[in-house]
Amino acid sequence: MNEESKNEISRRSFFLRISLGLAGISALAAAIPVVSALLAPLLEKKNQQWRTVGKVDDFQTGSTNLVTFTNADPQLYAGTTAKSAAWLRRNDDNQFIAFAANCTHLGCPVRWEKEAHLFMCPCHGGVYYADGTVAGGPPPKPLTRYEVKTFNNEVQIKTAPVSITTINGSKKA
Ligand code: FES
Repeated sequence: MNEESKNEISRRSFFLRISLGLAGISALAAAIPVVSALLAPLLEKKNQQWRTVGKVDDFQTGSTNLVTFTNADPQLYAGTTAKSAAWLRRNDDNQFIAFAANCTHLGCPVRWEKEAHLFMCPCHGGVYYADGTVAGGPPPKPLTRYEVKTFNNEVQIKTAPVSITTINGSKKA
């Protein structure tokens, strides 16, 4: 084997290794979104936490009150963005329901109009009935519901992702 042949084999071997390396990197890059999508439901479940929002007796039967709580997995730098808000209603002595305070259209905070018995969104006129279903305007779906329980005379809300619609119309959890 002459010197020229050896150089040719060495060059081919080099390019083969580079090609295999790039193919491996591409395969890894393509796999990341797939693996993320498969693991997302598991991570969301893991990140849910029960948060105390007050004593049972803090809330009158029939009243709907704004409560705040810390998100499941707040970052150190999050500041006030680590908090979520919910509208909590006491239906009877032991039964509570809670709605996310964010409109399902673009996430603006909705307010409870006691006299009208409606949730109103100030951004684009979204309106929800007292049960969280859409009464009018652009919201594509009902207000997100949180799980609520009472424990040791405290009311607790289970944190959860709030589903809103992004500007291009796709849904985001
Ligand atoms: S964000 Fe509430 S109606 Fe648009």
